[in-house]
Amino acid sequence: PLQYTLALLKPDICANPLLPPKIIDTIRARELNVLEQKPLLWSQADAEAFYGEHRGKFFFERLCGYMTSGPFMALVLSSPNAIKDWRALIGPTHPVRARINAPDTLRALYGLTDTRNSFHGSDSPENARQEIEFFFKDFHIDAHQK
Ligand code: CMP
Repeated sequence: PLQYTLALLKPDICANPLLPPKIIDTIRARELNVLEQKPLLWSQADAEAFYGEHRGKFFFERLCGYMTSGPFMALVLSSPNAIKDWRALIGPTHPVRARINAPDTLRALYGLTDTRNSFHGSDSPENARQEIEFFFKDFHIDAHQK
């Protein structure tokens, strides 16, 4: 059976129009299917809604500031192990650590700081379902799952 995950190409990636198509090629080359993709531009309220679980953390304001700084892209990816596959491709949250421990990952290549880390990936099937639903109201995992 296929698994589904939500990927974000964050504003620093989308500020350079050459990067999203290049990264989507890399995603496909790693045998992840790109089922949906959509550009977004968030208000402060949108950012706070998606990242509500981080409210109160020291980086919350920074995170919302970053995610509202410009357009970004949401993707739905699938493969037999999409959640792990995508997280393995993006690498550790912290780009500096990624450059040391996982130099071939996307965050090692493109990430700037702990906050400006260029990519997001769902961390569990439950979160993937919620996050896909948040961005793609008409995408129903169960309808794809046959
Ligand atoms: P993401 O995977 O989208 O989910 C939460 C985000 O919070 C994370 O990527 C980073 O952008 C940000 N973040 C997580 N940990 C830190 C941290 N220690 N310092 C600053 N920002 C962080």
